[in-house]
Amino acid sequence: MIKQAIIPLAGLGTRMLPLTSVMPKELLPINGKPNLEYILEECLNAGIKEFIFIISRKKKSIKKYFFNDNFYKKIIKKKKDKRIIEEYKKIKKYQKMIKFVYQNNPKGTGDAVLRCKKFIKDKFFLMLLPDDLIIKHNCSKEMIRLHKITNGSVIATKRVERKTVSRWGILSFNNKKKSYFQIKDVVEKPNIKKAPSNFAIIGRYILTSKIFDEIKRLKPGQGGEIHITDAIKSLIHKNNKFYGNIFKGKYLDCGTLSGYIKSGIKINKGEK
Ligand code: G1P
Repeated sequence: MIKQAIIPLAGLGTRMLPLTSVMPKELLPINGKPNLEYILEECLNAGIKEFIFIISRKKKSIKKYFFNDNFYKKIIKKKKDKRIIEEYKKIKKYQKMIKFVYQNNPKGTGDAVLRCKKFIKDKFFLMLLPDDLIIKHNCSKEMIRLHKITNGSVIATKRVERKTVSRWGILSFNNKKKSYFQIKDVVEKPNIKKAPSNFAIIGRYILTSKIFDEIKRLKPGQGGEIHITDAIKSLIHKNNKFYGNIFKGKYLDCGTLSGYIKSGIKINKGEK
């Protein structure tokens, strides 16, 4: 059973400046709700019971968002507003589920995952990158289903335009079924000539806890960061099974300013 989800939240959000100069990108509202809450709802719906947030000193406001009890208590005492009471109840529920770890220097997704090692209890866990929203169909739920069938690790994937391959982790495979395939190899942000396919990694992963030892062995890769893609590559080369899940939902890129603006409009138009 997959019960724990880790969510890297320590990134600087430079692609979203100036909005992120004072506000973490994960708290920016999309159609009236912080980006991060969409991610948490997807997890709750997929049966996740515990969240591990990787934050940094600079992003403590994420902790405050979920642990601002005195503020809520005072307001509720004064106003007895039904909507605020409901919001507070929701936040109290999340409080019981969230643990925090710190990554004060942005050293990459691999480094972020490694920091969660002490909290991971089972053989497999879920990781979600909050820049990537997937609406209409619950992607995490689909992936957990595929994990149950294959007993392997799972990565969300989507066909992207060939000219954009250098923006993504790219997967290679031999045989493709309708909604999934076994992954033969992965490469982080290849140039167009070297890309083995145009199936991109989207930010949902079911990972084996064997990944921690693999990350420890890694040297910094692209941009001097420790990439989770490189640890996945080593595991695949050691015959660990990874599957690409071609998800049904609609992908919204919230990691760039233009993507973020479009996502708000699409959700508002009722694409959900
Ligand atoms: C990260 C991963 C990349 C993946 C992408 C999905 O890149 O490293 O493999 O394709 O997320 O959004 P980033 O968006 O952090 O540059």
